[in-house]
Amino acid sequence: MVLACSECGAASVDDAIFCASCGGLLAFALEREHDAATLRETFAARRRSNDPLDRSGVWRFRDLLPAVPHEKVVTLRENDLPLYAAVRGAHYAGASRLAYFHLGMNPTASFKDAGMTVAISHAHARGARVAVCASTGNTAASMAAYCARANMTALVFVPAVGISEAKMAQTLDYGATIAALDGDFDRALERVRGLDPSRVAIVNSVNPYRIEGQKCAAFALLEARDWRVPDWIVLPGGNLGNTSAFGKGLRELLEIGLIDRLPRLAVVQASGAAPFAKVFREGGDLVPVHAQTTATAIKIGAPASWRKALREIRATHGTVLDVADDAIADARAVIGRDGVGCEPASAATLAGLRVLRENATIGREEDVVLVLTGHVLKDGAYAAQYHASNAPYANTIRRIESDDALTALVDEVTTARV
Ligand code: F0G
Repeated sequence: MVLACSECGAASVDDAIFCASCGGLLAFALEREHDAATLRETFAARRRSNDPLDRSGVWRFRDLLPAVPHEKVVTLRENDLPLYAAVRGAHYAGASRLAYFHLGMNPTASFKDAGMTVAISHAHARGARVAVCASTGNTAASMAAYCARANMTALVFVPAVGISEAKMAQTLDYGATIAALDGDFDRALERVRGLDPSRVAIVNSVNPYRIEGQKCAAFALLEARDWRVPDWIVLPGGNLGNTSAFGKGLRELLEIGLIDRLPRLAVVQASGAAPFAKVFREGGDLVPVHAQTTATAIKIGAPASWRKALREIRATHGTVLDVADDAIADARAVIGRDGVGCEPASAATLAGLRVLRENATIGREEDVVLVLTGHVLKDGAYAAQYHASNAPYANTIRRIESDDALTALVDEVTTARV
């Protein structure tokens, strides 16, 4: 695969992150011709194999990835993911054909693992000893786990306040060094960008290897649907690496002939962190905002990949919108009632779909997939707080202090209609 600037097209050397001519983000392009039928068979055969590379929903698609020597690949069986029917979610949004594709079922419980396996494998192959990222928590945990597997040092920059405790505990478990900094995610990313890439491997989604791994989520989704294209794929948007990656993956599938049309992409931001939704509505350049949202994973005011992401949205005739924190909170609880747990950022998808159904951007009969990006246990404190409130889908723990009260409760639940 060849690496070139996504803005000016200049060719780039392999280990760069930014274009030497214009400073733009780099991207890989497929070089070879691929035969769709052969690839389909190859992927299906690998799915039945027990080789760790074949079982990974990233490395199974290695024909479409930058080459990494097999013995250097660091994999935790990422992207082996379920597609769940969304029964209550569909009812909530007024949709009739809805599914959740749950990227939170990854090894470190977020979608970051798909990109991280490629970024860390590449860094490991070229002999890097230290990897660094700025994070709202999930990138941190993922990088730390893959570094641990590669015997590399993980250095994480996070905002000192507003990050989920569970994500930090997980990152500590994997042995990372965490630097808690003043300022927000955007400031932390600026500091990472200021580091010398010859000393540390920068593995934020500005790293094109991350995007290559993350595009495999689109491959895995279409593979799970036997290459039948949905009408819409709905994603939460923060730094917008994932939107760029999904769009790239879908375009490649179309180019190769593995799918026959593009689904439309809808990106949902939290209203207090929605500079991309504004650009989509009003045009012009992105104006950074001071981000505010309780969906801390997407509390990002200056998304690094907005230009790439906008091109992908346009290419699919997609849309971008924002939803209030309360709407995200209720949507997350509704997804829970489907027996599927996700963290707040992921639930922006269902809240967004509800709006898109209300304003008829999406029709009731359209086939829609919501991409859930993180697991419920990533932010247990948020869930607990929701259930301690008066919110519409709040559920309470019933404190029972006598046998009679317990008998009454059993009577109540056994006679109640579900
Ligand atoms: N959902 C979750 C659960 C996330 O953790 C993130 C980003 C996103 C959605 C947004 O994805 O940035 O590619 O648009 N989390 C990053 C992190 C920033 O540091 O873990 P995006």
